[in-house]
Amino acid sequence: MRLNGKTCLVTGAAGGIGMAMVEAFLREGAVVVASDLDTALLSERCAGLPGGERVLVRRLDVTDPKGIAALDASLADAGVQVNVLVNNAAAITIGKLLDASLEDLRLVLGVNVEGLFNVTKAFLPGMIGRGGGTVLNMASLASVRAMRERFVYSASKAAIAMMTRSIAVDYVADGIRANCICPARVHTPFIENYLARYYPGEEKERFEALSRYQPVGRMIRPDEVAAMAVYLCSDESAMVTGGSFVIDGGVMAGDQPLPEG
Ligand SMILES: NC(=O)c1ccc[n+]([C@@H]2O[C@H](COP(=O)([O-])OP(=O)(O)OC[C@H]3O[C@@H](n4cnc5c(N)ncnc54)[C@H](O)[C@@H]3O)[C@@H](O)[C@H]2O)c1
Repeated sequence: MRLNGKTCLVTGAAGGIGMAMVEAFLREGAVVVASDLDTALLSERCAGLPGGERVLVRRLDVTDPKGIAALDASLADAGVQVNVLVNNAAAITIGKLLDASLEDLRLVLGVNVEGLFNVTKAFLPGMIGRGGGTVLNMASLASVRAMRERFVYSASKAAIAMMTRSIAVDYVADGIRANCICPARVHTPFIENYLARYYPGEEKERFEALSRYQPVGRMIRPDEVAAMAVYLCSDESAMVTGGSFVIDGGVMAGDQPLPEG
């Protein structure tokens, strides 16, 4: 199995991509610390998973450094040694610069940028102390391409892509690899939630536009992102670090008409 010997901490694990990664990591033999703000949903979704005897469900708010330190200490006490960290939790607001409030900016940067900072700062020393490990960050196509009406979110995801490269450069000699995944639209509760919040009554049309955005003609499935994550967290990618990996159904390939969405 491709992740034998790996202990993977996943943040935001109750969500669409997070849970797909938990399932894929378990299938590949990893021990998984699945964490989220929403532990009720997380416990429900982890119940009965194949390989579920290797999953630990924990509450973790990535904006709470004390809670993160407490999780780090309790895992250490239990002899759980994280060697793969997946920073996946995120918040989103929709809109252009003039639509965004300072509260939106603080909320999204707080979860996406500060959250990654907090969790990585807490777990990286242990990984370095044990001879190395892997950091995988969930960025977005919005990290590499300006997407309409995603001003605040795109800023946060562009920061994540550069934080990933900085970690890769600064800790390469410590045996740390860092990469990020940059998906276009993935069909998860993230999409459903923001369509319901920002486009009430237009959800179906907006959903179709989001699907057409990928030249392949549909949204990405969470398990397709998880497949890339397995590769990037396994030793198969030992020579891969500092990378931003696009999974986009052809958006970045070149000259094709992209619909709104
Ligand atoms: N769905 C997409 O189209 C898409 C596209 C590109 C990138 N992404 C990125 O992929 C990642 C996962 O997205 P998803 O679609 O699975 O989202 P999702 O909304 O399904 O899941 C996100 C999870 O993060 C958790 N979360 C939110 N704030 C948190 C906090 N402060 N601490 C801990 N957990 C918190 C939520 O409870 C939720 O379970 C995110 O980083 C997102 O930005 C998603």
